[in-house]
Amino acid sequence: MNVLKLKTMIQLPTSLIIQTACELWGKGEVVAIPTETVYGLAADAEQDIAVAKIFAIKGRPKFNPLILHISSLDQLEQYAETTPLFIKAAEAFWPGPLTFVLPRRKGTKLSYLVTAGLETVAVRLPAHPLAQQLIQTYGKPLAAPSANKSNSMSPTSALDVAASLGGRIPLIIDGGPTLVGLESTIIDLTTNIPTILRPGGVTFEALNAIIGPVQYRADDALIKAPGMLKRHYAPTLPLRLNALEKRDAEAMLGFGPVTGDLNLSEQGHLSEAAANLFRYLRQLDTSPYQGIAVAPIPMQGLGVAINDRLTRAACIEEERSGV
Ligand code: TXA
Ligand code: MG
Repeated sequence: MNVLKLKTMIQLPTSLIIQTACELWGKGEVVAIPTETVYGLAADAEQDIAVAKIFAIKGRPKFNPLILHISSLDQLEQYAETTPLFIKAAEAFWPGPLTFVLPRRKGTKLSYLVTAGLETVAVRLPAHPLAQQLIQTYGKPLAAPSANKSNSMSPTSALDVAASLGGRIPLIIDGGPTLVGLESTIIDLTTNIPTILRPGGVTFEALNAIIGPVQYRADDALIKAPGMLKRHYAPTLPLRLNALEKRDAEAMLGFGPVTGDLNLSEQGHLSEAAANLFRYLRQLDTSPYQGIAVAPIPMQGLGVAINDRLTRAACIEEERSGV
């Protein structure tokens, strides 16, 4: 497989381009598409070779499973086992930035590469109308991780995808900047108490209110979602968190009244901060800066997911087996 010599097209979503994407998927190719969280690198979830390309292009370890993206609940039946608790949660939060881990259906055509050999499968129905239209037009679910090289920050625009994976994929569909800006929350419904494996666009409080009690994964538990690996989502410059002002040679990422070279949200709105997080980190991750200082973000609501990403990005410990 030659992933290095492709000419990458960035295209707006005309009906011709949607058709082209479906043809590429049918032929086992990958296409980057927008979702409301971050851009995804999508392939036909039933074709082993297509899914293998995702891992090769990202440089992602094969033990790290992918999320299956669907456009309707009906599509799910062939791939996963559902429960009344799942239906209740899906009615409340789908379409949206929430991924469920469910038992993988026996005898499903789903490629084992998608689930990395696990007997569970992660599924999401994205809220982005274009993502839904693409999956619906293709007629089958798409496996898609975030469309970035392994271990780096997730892309929130078509240009971010091109900067990370340009030359390795044939097509990026440009749906504008993503609204949520952080990856989906992942909740495991195969445990006795529903367990949040990754905080994200849907908060603990919101989940607890509908399907509570829910719990966070214990920190020392087996790594079930390798997105939970310590070093992840990382810019190249070192981060210094909970900073009130910058030091020499640092860029400063502000929040609320703590000002900086850029401010995640002057009004202190966490949803705005989440939407800006990766974009602003990318903008500051350049010379002449030698580090990035980040203002404190409150640990509530979406702030939990923002702090999760920041903590992992700040971790200096090398984790080469990451996502
Ligand atoms: O918002 C999102 O979730 C984006 C968009 C594109 O949908 N996708 C995304 O995918 O963030 P990715 O591959 O970067 O992160 C998926 C996470 C990984 O940490 C993976 O380990 C976890 O989902 N995961 C997938 N299948 C799993 C399973 N069966 N059990 C536990 N974790 C799983
Ligand atoms: Mg990712």
